[in-house]
Amino acid sequence: MSKIIASNNNGKDRDQQQITSRKGPQSATWVNPKRMMGKIMKFVFPILLFISFNVAHADDTLFSTNLYAKFQAKACTTCHDFHEQDKDGFFFNSHTKRRDVNRCKKCHNQKVTGFEHVRDWFAMPGLYLSGMNAKETCKQIKKAFHAEFKSDDLLAAQMKNHLFNDPRVLWAIEGATSNSGKLPFKKQETDMVKGGMEEWKSQVMAWITGGMKCE
Ligand code: HEC
Ligand code: HEC
Repeated sequence: MSKIIASNNNGKDRDQQQITSRKGPQSATWVNPKRMMGKIMKFVFPILLFISFNVAHADDTLFSTNLYAKFQAKACTTCHDFHEQDKDGFFFNSHTKRRDVNRCKKCHNQKVTGFEHVRDWFAMPGLYLSGMNAKETCKQIKKAFHAEFKSDDLLAAQMKNHLFNDPRVLWAIEGATSNSGKLPFKKQETDMVKGGMEEWKSQVMAWITGGMKCE
């Protein structure tokens, strides 16, 4: 044990000697490059941290930051594309023999959707569609709410009500209800709105209270 300590001390002394002899009289001002790096990092690191913090917390009052990707999940757009031929909408595809609007609820029944009112399962044209960019999607949503005729207050209240309470929206959010994503014949929509209800609520609120900006 004592031998090891002794040899360690010896090693240190040798290093010290080498440094002094190499640098000679300048040794007092000689700067250890490792320490220099340490000093630089003291200043650079907080700056890097600051930048990455700001990137991670990009402006969540913009529609494009969080909500756009969520609105484009197939769980939302397959229904909104239902009547669009050029989007291969289900009306022209798997549902050519299921077009009767009074029969949707036979298959998309309460056991499947979990909806309080089975009739809430329907699709209609003139809504936002898949493939629209963030600006178009956001503008189309506002248009469908007839935003130009409403005060910001009223629009915000209706937007909140729709996005937090509409059964179809909840159906499309992963984990929002125990029937979210469920389809007839034991099928399941897999491209759901990720992140769950908590994240959805905080991101929608950030956008609404930030003025529902369409950038
Ligand atoms: C089962 C089909 C269906 C699903 C799933 C669905 N929607 Fe809709 N959505 C509709 C229908 C139908 C309307 C028109 C509502 C009405 O007039 O009552 C609508 C209206 C809207 C509106 C009102 C503004 C507009 O564009 O017309 C928004 C916003 C909206 N949906 C967003 C979503 C989002 C976001 C999702 C996914 C989280 C979603 N929808 C999932 C069918 C659906
Ligand atoms: C005979 C049963 C049946 C009827 C009737 C039916 N559907 Fe469907 N629906 C299905 C099945 C099964 C699926 C799963 C996809 C597939 O196999 O086509 C589906 C999928 C859907 C989806 C896709 C949801 C998603 O995001 O994945 C929508 C939207 C939809 N149906 C709307 C309707 C509407 C609106 C009606 C009435 C006009 C209707 N369906 C009538 C059986 C039915």
